[in-house]
Amino acid sequence: MDRHLWIIRGGDRLEGEVRVPGAKNAVLPALAAALLTPERCVLRQVPDITDVRIMVEILETLGARVEVAGDVHGLALAVEARDLPHHRVPPDKMERVRSSSFLLGPLLARVGRATLFSPGGCDLGPRPIDLHVKGLRAMGARIDTEDGGVQAQVDRLHGAQIHLDYPSVGATENLMLAGVLAEGTTVIINAAREPEIVDLGILLDRMGAHVRGAGTSTIRIEGVARLAGTEHTVIPDRIVTGTLVLAAVMTRGDLRLRGVIPDHVRSLLMNLGGEGVHIEAGEDWIRVRARGRLAPVRLRTLPYPGFPTDLQAPLVAALTLADGSSRVRETIFTRRFAHVEPLIRMGASIEVKGDELFVAGVRALRGTTVEARDLRAGAALVLAGLAAEGETVIRGGEQIDRGYAALDRLLQSLGAKVSVKARESA
Ligand code: UD1
Repeated sequence: MDRHLWIIRGGDRLEGEVRVPGAKNAVLPALAAALLTPERCVLRQVPDITDVRIMVEILETLGARVEVAGDVHGLALAVEARDLPHHRVPPDKMERVRSSSFLLGPLLARVGRATLFSPGGCDLGPRPIDLHVKGLRAMGARIDTEDGGVQAQVDRLHGAQIHLDYPSVGATENLMLAGVLAEGTTVIINAAREPEIVDLGILLDRMGAHVRGAGTSTIRIEGVARLAGTEHTVIPDRIVTGTLVLAAVMTRGDLRLRGVIPDHVRSLLMNLGGEGVHIEAGEDWIRVRARGRLAPVRLRTLPYPGFPTDLQAPLVAALTLADGSSRVRETIFTRRFAHVEPLIRMGASIEVKGDELFVAGVRALRGTTVEARDLRAGAALVLAGLAAEGETVIRGGEQIDRGYAALDRLLQSLGAKVSVKARESA
């Protein structure tokens, strides 16, 4: 269903307890990893989101069999890539899940060929993959990036020492996925250290790989000849966790999150202060109780363990109601500010200066009709809608379903007045 329109009647406190689903950014590379073996891989606690559904379609187009079953904690996906007769990722799907670029590594490792295509002839959408390509070339792949697509070929990948100019999450994952079946040792220097990289390392080791150092800036991989099937439960989604924490703060709620890893959202929790904002965390839970306004912050987005770019928009939504003026600098993606204009339309006071946002806290936001132009901007607008006076209508709500599993139902269970409609009935 095309869940286009979100209607939120703001002003209710979020109260209650929820379990956070598995991480989108851990599941997507895990699905790519499942292509590395002819045996069956089962992934659990998979969030039912559009990006996962499209990635599953991509695996099927490549020739893998995927069984999807549901359980209370999310989906269980069983992937069996007995052989991979196709190596071309269809352009329409590639465009919809941009991070599907990390299929390059597994396809090269498993079948020695990969074709990824970008419609419109630009550099694979707004996200360059030069670091991925450079690393795979160092491992012996012949890669042609003419016409906005990528054609790659290799007899067998060999290990290499690769220094990433930037700790790219996707490039690190792609090179890990390539390295596990390469001949010899691969060393990734200046690797990304995100928790999703650690999770991928654990999964690959369970499949029989030798990955050391995932989660540090040097990852060392001893290639093996083959990998086996396994079962793996993906880590909880730290961005969903952070979004819900901010929702509780904004609505002056009382929320308990279960099944989380508080350490993964430390950079957010550390920045949430203010009179009446109480946050407690245990081994696998977080409780947020908010009675007053959030204190303003000054921070910038950074690679992990710094403040995540994916929480920048939700944080800015919360800061629009803070008790003072905040400064937030986006250093990971250029002008990731799709949330700013709609938030201003809702009464926020935000000024953009280069890569920095200056947010002056206001007393209240008011509901109006706004457009979600990307996933995290969509989440920011939901938060704003929950706290705003009156009714907020968000168009482009399908963006939210890309990364948040049934967020409307989850929020309803906490007392929010949210409904979602398909485009036809809009
Ligand atoms: C992943 C996450 C995304 C998150 C991002 C940064 C997934 C599926 N997505 O995206 O949610 O926002 O990490 O934490 O895990 N870059 C290059 N050349 C490259 C690769 C990246 O210049 O070859 C640049 C990008 O343009 C960007 C920065 O490096 O400015 C970070 O990108 P990267 O860490 O690769 O993000 P993704 O893996 O695409």
